[in-house]
Amino acid sequence: MEHNLPQRGSAKPLGREEASPREKKVFVKTYGCQMNVYDSQRMADALAADGFRPADTIEEADLVLLNTCHIREKAAEKVYSELGRIRLLKEERAKRGQETVIGVAGCVAQAEGREILRRAPVVDLVIGPQTYHRLPAVVQRAKAGEKIVETEYAIEDKFEHLPAPERRVVKSRGVTAFLTVQEGCDKFCTFCVVPYTRGAEVSRSVAQIVAEAERLADAGVREVTLLGQNVNAWHGEGPDGSEWGLGRLLFRLAEIPGLDRLRYTTSHPRDMDDELIAAHRDLGKLMPYLHLPVQAGSDRILKAMNRKHTASDYLSLIERIRKARPDIALSGDFIVGFPGETDADFEDTMRLVREVTYAQAFSFKYSPRPGTPGAEMDAQVPDKVKDERLQRLQALLAEQSRAFAESLVGVEIDLLLEKPGREPGQLVGRSPWLQPVIVDANAGRIGDIVPVKVLRAGTNSLFAERKVMSIKDNAMGVRV
Ligand code: 5AD
Ligand code: SF4
Repeated sequence: MEHNLPQRGSAKPLGREEASPREKKVFVKTYGCQMNVYDSQRMADALAADGFRPADTIEEADLVLLNTCHIREKAAEKVYSELGRIRLLKEERAKRGQETVIGVAGCVAQAEGREILRRAPVVDLVIGPQTYHRLPAVVQRAKAGEKIVETEYAIEDKFEHLPAPERRVVKSRGVTAFLTVQEGCDKFCTFCVVPYTRGAEVSRSVAQIVAEAERLADAGVREVTLLGQNVNAWHGEGPDGSEWGLGRLLFRLAEIPGLDRLRYTTSHPRDMDDELIAAHRDLGKLMPYLHLPVQAGSDRILKAMNRKHTASDYLSLIERIRKARPDIALSGDFIVGFPGETDADFEDTMRLVREVTYAQAFSFKYSPRPGTPGAEMDAQVPDKVKDERLQRLQALLAEQSRAFAESLVGVEIDLLLEKPGREPGQLVGRSPWLQPVIVDANAGRIGDIVPVKVLRAGTNSLFAERKVMSIKDNAMGVRV
């Protein structure tokens, strides 16, 4: 999915709690984007209502779910190698008389369906992203020995049926949270599987979203990131009966007490409307960071990609956004080696990157995906050429994000303290521009937003010191 930043190594057990020895346990391993991270949590919530507790390790799980990503070939292949390891694990457990149900969820499940059972007979159930609310029932049937493929698009709204997480579970998940507001995509970029795996664009209702955001705030969450494959295409009917877009929704969410930071990801340039740009101008709670993928800098390639915008459309949009919010940091996604991409086309991408200057960006070699128009196109680019282009592009992007980080040295920023750092006495938070920031502070301060001064920029994070407040500030009740 275009729009979701890759999450690396997120195989953590979800919301661990105390468990009695005979409790059923589930281990969810998440691949791919933030949407999958969110879905994994909701699956865990649905299963918790059915008596499943999160397992600390995959070995002790009675139910293993792989929540998969199909965006590039490599991502999909990872699933099969993991299933090879899981087969051995299931055999080991069987020797000890323990039953294990293995499920594949997510976009590989949706795209490959029954083929998964053929390639990996160890799998008991395959379930697509639109049917997670049926998971407890499906698991019951799998335990009774049935092999199940559940990939029909559900007529009912999965979010209406997925239970809300308990307050203590939300609390254990921390002070930042994802909230899916929109799923699916109608854009059909010719390289992308998302319209096939996640289906047509669907928006959740204002009431559902506001209720979930209020529940999160009530459980101590201070920063919410709204998610959608095409999040800025979100629309819904407001309480006044008028049609709302994402900008209006952000204004509404900013009214919720306790929610101090809002973000959204990820967006399509075509759907950045005036109200959303105004939200960046007027809402202090909306963080000055925007992931706005362009994919390529050549109009010929953008057309072949069916992106529905030109390079200059994108550049003038960036100009408008920067005018509204001068300190906004931009992030993007790029594909090199799309079919037909010449050296000159690639140079257009390099030029666009130089013109925009990104704070951060993700870049990939084009990976032909079965069933997408791009995979059928002539003039596929040789892998060696893709490698060279990717290297050059990544060097430029790395230089830009390094320069951005360096530009913050000496700057004072507000930091939301999120979790313990690697060293004792350290906490890690995120800058307004999403960089991890490390600072000395004690764990009791997690959830606080504190002023810090950036001391230096490391490879992937910033190091900062707490700003000493003046006596006057303290007298005004500012906690240090
Ligand atoms: N090959 C390479 N990269 C892809 N992406 C999406 N589909 C493909 C593909 N077939 C990239 C896009 C998208 C990001 C999440 O993944 O850049 O924005
Ligand atoms: Fe994003 Fe295009 Fe894929 Fe839709 S089809 S998810 S707009 S890359």
